[in-house]
Amino acid sequence: MSEKIPKVVLAYSGGLDTTVAIKWFSENGVEVVTFTAELGQGVELERIEERAYEAGAIKHYSLDLVDEFTQGYVAPAILANAMYEGEYPISSALSRPLIASKLVEIAEKEGADAVAHGCTSKGNDQVRFDITVKSLNPGLKVIAPTRIWRWSRHQELEYAKSRGLKISESHKKYSIDSNIWGRSIESGPLEDPWTEPPEDAFEWTVSPEAAPSEPEYLSIEFDEGIPAALNGEGMDLSELVLRLNSIAGRHGVGRIDHMESRIVGFKSREVYEAPAAVTIIKAHMDLEKTVLTRRELQFKSLADREWTNLVYEGLWGEPLREGLQKLIESMNKYVCGEVRLKLFKGSLRVVGRRSEYALYDVSIAGYDEGWYPTDEEARGFIGAWGLYAVTSRAVRRYVQETGVRRSEGLVA
Ligand code: ARG
Repeated sequence: MSEKIPKVVLAYSGGLDTTVAIKWFSENGVEVVTFTAELGQGVELERIEERAYEAGAIKHYSLDLVDEFTQGYVAPAILANAMYEGEYPISSALSRPLIASKLVEIAEKEGADAVAHGCTSKGNDQVRFDITVKSLNPGLKVIAPTRIWRWSRHQELEYAKSRGLKISESHKKYSIDSNIWGRSIESGPLEDPWTEPPEDAFEWTVSPEAAPSEPEYLSIEFDEGIPAALNGEGMDLSELVLRLNSIAGRHGVGRIDHMESRIVGFKSREVYEAPAAVTIIKAHMDLEKTVLTRRELQFKSLADREWTNLVYEGLWGEPLREGLQKLIESMNKYVCGEVRLKLFKGSLRVVGRRSEYALYDVSIAGYDEGWYPTDEEARGFIGAWGLYAVTSRAVRRYVQETGVRRSEGLVA
């Protein structure tokens, strides 16, 4: 009886690392099934499939996951105003649990022994893939070939050349990961944090200098926290995000350059472009401020940050993430209404908002008419409100100056 040949399902992007991985597995007697996810990143799936077979894959899966990604991952990120360290809309981080769950499904269907990905031992993505796979099927092995061979980029290119593998030029300068929610750009000239990112790093946004000299207004309508219409036209979330990427991108909105604290213990300089994400989250936060109470807002920002950190840190499978998500969803029940924004040469401003649930009331807040507390009412409120601050200072001052402990009657 012949021994079973080991089989692996590889998350295949079509880039250098994963193409070399197919060949490497095959040469080591492992059968490779490849899988490419369409997440709105604008790649040619047929080209990727061809390349997988050229490199030695025995079978290939291409799955269109755009809607599953927007519904299941982007939507909750909007509800949570997810911006890691206040800057990064966690676009790459959000895609990993979805890709990992498909890897597991395919591996189970194909009777594979392991799944594999192209992440290096320095990145966050390996953490996200490994943990998600293990949490879904602890019996599956996770293999990361680049962590095993640890070749330099130059060595990889040499290996690819010697095996006749074609590597596209675009993959040589930067390491790119993109999906509908954003484009991550790493390595090459970006590794010097003092150097301004070169223009050729960007594909979705123009530079603010080159943006139109006329501003553009747009409006986003939200239904229970989720964008439902753009400029009055109802559309599904994927379509809305795609359109906003191009509208905001042509005004130079959505470029991000920040020093990121990675899971793996070091700082890295990260560059992103995420025009739709930046625009939607800005509008969503403004609408929340319009309809939620002060206490709700204060508490929600803690829940939002924790949810975002869990996802960034590869802990999509942590039960707290689901618990927080339910809370965040329920807090979005009244986040319905419309936000107007103005885009101009790289700047993005909210210039209007309205909602049937707005807590804003001009007859209360306005200076011209309506409710006006009397002098007596105002003094009463201020007196009680500031009493701790006033008494504590008076007590401490008195005891310090006199050495006497009695403190009654100092302020009342
Ligand atoms: N630093 C980002 C994150 O951890 C982006 C990772 C992007 N991956 C890549 N292969 N370029 O989510």
